[in-house]
Amino acid sequence: MKPIQVGLLGLGTVGGGTLTVLRRNAAEIKRRAGCEIRVVMAAVRDLQRAQAHAGDDMQLTDDPFAVVNHPDIDIVVEAMGGESPARALILEAIANGKHVVTANKALIARHGTEIFAAAQQRGVMVAFEAAVGGGIPIIKAIREGLTANRIEWIAGIINGTTNFILTRMRDEGSSFADALKLAQELGYAEADPSFDVEGVDAAHKLTILSAIAFGIPMQFDHAHIEGITRLTQDDVRYAGRLGYRVKLLGITRRTAGGIELRVHPALIPERRLIANVDGSMNAILVKGDAVGVTLHYGAGAGAEPTASSVVADLVDVARMMTSDPHSRVPHLAFQPETLSSEPILPMGEVRTCYYLRMRARDEAGVLADVTRILADLGISIEAMIQQEPASGDPLVDIVMLTHQCSEKHIDAAIDRMEALPSLTGGVMRIRLEHLAG
Ligand code: NAP
Ligand code: HSE
Repeated sequence: MKPIQVGLLGLGTVGGGTLTVLRRNAAEIKRRAGCEIRVVMAAVRDLQRAQAHAGDDMQLTDDPFAVVNHPDIDIVVEAMGGESPARALILEAIANGKHVVTANKALIARHGTEIFAAAQQRGVMVAFEAAVGGGIPIIKAIREGLTANRIEWIAGIINGTTNFILTRMRDEGSSFADALKLAQELGYAEADPSFDVEGVDAAHKLTILSAIAFGIPMQFDHAHIEGITRLTQDDVRYAGRLGYRVKLLGITRRTAGGIELRVHPALIPERRLIANVDGSMNAILVKGDAVGVTLHYGAGAGAEPTASSVVADLVDVARMMTSDPHSRVPHLAFQPETLSSEPILPMGEVRTCYYLRMRARDEAGVLADVTRILADLGISIEAMIQQEPASGDPLVDIVMLTHQCSEKHIDAAIDRMEALPSLTGGVMRIRLEHLAG
């Protein structure tokens, strides 16, 4: 079979890593794909900086449209990031009959429906393994390996940068700013790191997981998103005393009222494997009705782990290029005409457990007021810590864990607690997930 000609859009962390892995493992990859996979052209903004990557066999350009319009290119790898011009480039590549591999979760979560429809119509493949979980083959696992199952829920640590920051803050006592800077230097963070720390990147990935797990369209706009910027060292410490770790989790779950789609920090019992996933590593739990719970673990960010997924997609596309488009794995795991319109569950209806931390005056009756509010709303307490005040400090920290209740009830309870004259400042609320099988 003649060599497959690849055009790369971007030669940064992911594009550069892809080129390195393709070159280093060329012989092994050829044995697997059944043909050579050759990068013949790459687009960047800064041609001078990219010269280090160029060889005699690869042409560099600063015009990415030259890549998607090049008649000899079979597969376009989009590793630029962002929505514009990436969306236009991918649509143009598809219109030109080229297959596409992308690592761009923001683009797939927001424009996946349009992109897959265009690819379906043109009979080309759009592969996006690298968009979720870095080097973990989670898309393939859900779309193919678990295809027998009715998936019930997915919960995962799906942002390497925030997991790296939380781990450094806990284990090294690093400041948030220092840990983020190091994550950027290591190539984990997004071009705009607020996407990582505010939970947006995790929500992009969760949107994709939810779509392929439940056969629903991409619904990023309905995701509930909270990042890690409000977390304090105190909360991490109290969680530890109670036997929990704090992680940024993405959770999507099928319920009778609709599909949960939420990203937020959560306490997880420290005895769970996933609570011990540290640094830039990712881990994703998938609960299927037949298989039970499976755990998928690996490097969630960085050049070569992500390249591992990009190259796997390239080999898949190379193997499938000559197959009948109707016999290929559907982009969203389910046949496009069978996508369901199940609604996303409003956050107020979500039921989970909660960690509450408040600062109160150290005087009689305060605890009784707080527990009465919880009891009035039918919320029961599972555990409690009242920290002894520092000498001379009239205020104490009270930390509570609740049993499961609905989010609208805990919100109402917090509103009433914050109106108590004996409490100062707001009530910190973090969700708590037991993640039991
Ligand atoms: P990056 O290091 O910033 O690299 C981006 C590359 O795209 C650079 O080579 C840049 O060229 C090029 N580029 C950007 N805009 C361009 C334009 N308009 N025309 C031509 N070239 C352009 O980014 P990255 O970390 O590799 O991320 C790329 C994508 O992969 C993003 O969608 C990201 O979310 C996703 N992703 C990243 C990781 C990770 O660990 N980093 C993991 C999974 C997925 P210059 O160098 O000349 O500026
Ligand atoms: N910024 C992303 C992360 C890159 O930290 O997880 C991998 O998708």
